[in-house]
Amino acid sequence: MPEQTSLMSLKCLVLDDSVIYAEAIKQMLASEPGIEIINSHTSFGEGVRAAKKHKPDIVLLAGDTPGVSSIVESLDSSVPEIPIIVLFSSEEPDLARECILAGAQLCLYSLDDRNELVGSIRRLVARERRRRTQIVAQATGDQPRLARVLTFHSAKGGSGTTTMVVNTAISLAQLTKKRVVIVDAALQSADVGVLLDLDHPTNIADLTPHMKELDEDLLSEIMATHSSGVKVLLAPAQIERSELITEEQFLRIIGVLRKAADYVLIDTPHILDAVSMAALDTCDQIVVVSTPEVAALRNTARFLQLTSRLGYPQEKIFLLINRAGSKGAVNLDDIKKHIKYEIGATIPSGGKKMISATNTGVPVTMEKGKSSMAKAFITLSTKLSEGELESRRKRTAKIISWIRIGRKQEKPNPAVAQNT
Ligand SMILES: Nc1ncnc2c1ncn2[C@@H]1O[C@H](COP(=O)(O)OP(=O)(O)OP(=O)(O)O)[C@@H](O)[C@H]1O
Ligand SMILES: [Mg+2]
Repeated sequence: MPEQTSLMSLKCLVLDDSVIYAEAIKQMLASEPGIEIINSHTSFGEGVRAAKKHKPDIVLLAGDTPGVSSIVESLDSSVPEIPIIVLFSSEEPDLARECILAGAQLCLYSLDDRNELVGSIRRLVARERRRRTQIVAQATGDQPRLARVLTFHSAKGGSGTTTMVVNTAISLAQLTKKRVVIVDAALQSADVGVLLDLDHPTNIADLTPHMKELDEDLLSEIMATHSSGVKVLLAPAQIERSELITEEQFLRIIGVLRKAADYVLIDTPHILDAVSMAALDTCDQIVVVSTPEVAALRNTARFLQLTSRLGYPQEKIFLLINRAGSKGAVNLDDIKKHIKYEIGATIPSGGKKMISATNTGVPVTMEKGKSSMAKAFITLSTKLSEGELESRRKRTAKIISWIRIGRKQEKPNPAVAQNT
């Protein structure tokens, strides 16, 4: 079970050339359970030496230190596994940008918000620990075959995120014949159940009292099954129950699902909360849904900037334009030029068909005979499962060539046949 971030113990190295500042940080974090503070000076490579000696879980660096971005750079190249937070006493956007480019994970402007600082420290350390655990598991080869986790997010409400999640899930199940699970992490709106017309007595909130014994069987009991075969972990029916689910519990659920499914699709709300941030962190790919209008695209661009500040690689992003080509839409070339991201796929506007699909709870991908909408979802699912399909194609090619070799060996050698 992953460590509860609110309880985990960690070592924090505070680097500064002013004792007063370091003392202020020390006092600020003093009452936090499990946080051990070590102070050190930044001068003459002292910071790097201290980081190597004490092996902290995180470094806090004063933004007012002269040459702060070079210090970040030397820390990042000497101890790249240790996350760095730079703390500025006033807004310094240019310097903050330089620090991020040099390798800092986060820049904070105010020392007044203790909760923000503590929360950021704990999240960055938890993320780094998760990453290391994964690397160790991969290196030792004891990683079971894990599901591909796709988090769908839109920076603007009503862009079609939930519609994309349910249709992609059905299309992926039809295409790959694999186990596909939807997790409704839009905990306060619970639209996945509506779009799939699922009336099911249990949901994600029912898991919270049983986190210790959480396993594949318990999850399977709680999840609903759609007629397409897609399993769904629904959001709580009552809004107030959505607050029961913490970020750590959510990550634990996704961890178990990775072993119990082949694809896990997560629906998120357009306003980011702790659970949806965890969904973005933990997934293999973020499907960023945007409609082709100026306001939506502007919010999408801001969200993409956030993903780069959070250190997500560009390959983690899959840009999906929904309602492409609708009347008055911004054209795809202009979108690419302004957003500076490749467009992964497009879904056309479905008009009345889509409205009726939403109202009846029968997604367009469930219709008999493939409409242009359903075909667009097949293209999308193929792209999202590309690696999977590619390896299956290679496996099939290998089997065919073995069969050919086998047949060749079975054929009698004509020379031998003539001699006998
Ligand atoms: N390609 C499309 N063509 C026509 N209508 C669409 C399309 N995609 C989504 N819609 C419609 O847009 C509305 C909003 O869709 P949806 O609920 O999926 O958006 P959302 O981004 O999940 O919204 P929220 O921010 O509330 O979670 C629905 O009525 C849906 O039927
Ligand atoms: Mg939604």
